[in-house]
Amino acid sequence: MIEMSISACSVIFVVVFFYLSVFSFTNIHAHHCSEKFLSEAKQRNLINITFCKKYVESNGVEIAMYLREKSRRLDIMVGAMLEEQTGWLAWGLNPGPVARMVGTQALIGIKTRNGDLLKDKYNITSYTKIGCQLLPSPIDLNISNFNFSYINYLQYHVIQATIILPMKYDVSRLNHVWQLGIDVAVGKEQPMMHPKGLRNYDSTETINLRTGKGRGNRVHTSSRIREVHGILNIIGWGTLLPIGVIIARNFRGFPLPWLPNWEKYHISCQTVGYIVGATGWAVGIWLGKASKYYSFPKHATFGTCIFAFATIQIVQMVFFNFKPGNHEEIRMYRRMFHHVVGYSLLVVSCINILKGIKIMHLDETYWLPAYYGIGGCLAFIFIVFEIVSWFKFLCDKFKLWMDPVSRLHTK
Ligand code: HEM
Ligand code: HEM
Ligand SMILES: *[C@@H]1O[C@H](CO)[C@@H](O)[C@H](O)[C@H]1NC(C)=O
Ligand SMILES: *[C@@H]1O[C@H](CO)[C@@H](O)[C@H](O)[C@H]1NC(C)=O
Ligand SMILES: *[C@@H]1O[C@H](CO)[C@@H](O)[C@H](O)[C@H]1NC(C)=O
Repeated sequence: MIEMSISACSVIFVVVFFYLSVFSFTNIHAHHCSEKFLSEAKQRNLINITFCKKYVESNGVEIAMYLREKSRRLDIMVGAMLEEQTGWLAWGLNPGPVARMVGTQALIGIKTRNGDLLKDKYNITSYTKIGCQLLPSPIDLNISNFNFSYINYLQYHVIQATIILPMKYDVSRLNHVWQLGIDVAVGKEQPMMHPKGLRNYDSTETINLRTGKGRGNRVHTSSRIREVHGILNIIGWGTLLPIGVIIARNFRGFPLPWLPNWEKYHISCQTVGYIVGATGWAVGIWLGKASKYYSFPKHATFGTCIFAFATIQIVQMVFFNFKPGNHEEIRMYRRMFHHVVGYSLLVVSCINILKGIKIMHLDETYWLPAYYGIGGCLAFIFIVFEIVSWFKFLCDKFKLWMDPVSRLHTK
């Protein structure tokens, strides 16, 4: 059994390695901004672009800046597609030590239902984050030429402004924050909560305007690890555990004794699946700890329940079940518990994997089709065996399964 686990392990590692090497080459997050955006910015007074970037993984927002160091005059232009009927685009600087939402001195442009474009300044506070109305207010930036307009040929809504940077903003460590929302309160200059995926949470960066480079960007540092987390969980909880269940249910001797030593296969499948899945869970916990300013409470709760119940499952089977005992009744209850928890784990794992894919907005890539492919294959195998089993069960029960000999006898 141990030898089998080892060989299964090496197969898993090859698979993981393959996945990682494929995924890691498709992992470019921030680009230079697009040619069109750059030339538009140059036409609009940002003659010597200091900084220009397109945040592909963060709603495709494009940001250009031009700093005149001596006068500390910063010209900015921020563009994005507001695809819905209403929407808002925000950009701001955070004078605090980190680039984050709370504390940002923001400029927000709003597209209303009847097509008006409004613009104003907003002081984003911790009250905003807990859901209090976000209304225009004074901010501690000296703003001029503030403009929010629509550029037809780019299909972009664009914020443009000139800022005289106060001394407390360090141009070599400038925390800037941007955001894109859909809902707007009717009849007011009030943007409503933005969507809740990583696209909207990864929208901060600390940049050095002297070199024009972003640094300390969370998108760069954790996106690879997020993919590792997703892949380990899909392989562990989403593939190996269901295979183990299929082995235990359908290969145990009914309808036919396919695998006389099915228990060994079941145990090694579940053990390896558990190790891979638990590693993925641990990576998730680490990711959650690393991103201090946002969280995914439901995904985290489901994830930790999966880990906890899978641990109970493994512990009670490995350490208690194989002791021979004559407490038949206890054994029966324990087996029932094992089955109920086992099937529930599969359901909750499916839900949480779909949640994870949604959080990362991977549903628009090949992730969701790939996961549906795996799940669909396993479900198909399961259902086919289930039908065969029931068919055989009914045939046996009503003695329809007659070989020529018994048919002769009954005649
Ligand atoms: C309209 C009202 C707004 C509400 C109700 C709101 C609420 C929230 C909430 C609840 C979170 C996640 C907290 C968590 O999961 O723990 C969040 C994150 C975030 N929001 Fe907002 N938000 C609003 C406007 C804005 C604006 C205008 C900006 C940009 C200037 C912005 C930028 C961010 C960023 C960058 C994050 C990621 C976490 C962080 O850096 O703190 N939000 N927001
Ligand atoms: C059943 C399988 C899964 C389990 C048990 C699980 C578990 C967890 C846990 C415990 C966290 C920490 C959450 C927090 O503290 O905020 C987390 C975060 C996360 N998970 Fe999962 N997860 C699973 C599947 C997935 C999948 C399939 C994906 C994506 C393809 C995914 C993407 C993420 C992301 C993006 C985060 C947040 C990272 C961050 O905060 O920067 N998860 N997961
Ligand atoms: C912004 O709000 C914070 C918290 O309420 C407050 O301390 C700060 O003075 C405000 N800034 C301005 C410019 O009003
Ligand atoms: C804002 O900047 C302009 C242009 O440099 C300057 O004339 C004005 O006094 C500044 N206002 C404040 C409140 O600093
Ligand atoms: C604001 O944008 C509009 C439309 O592009 C333009 O006509 C106007 O001159 C701009 N105003 C300023 C102050 O830049």
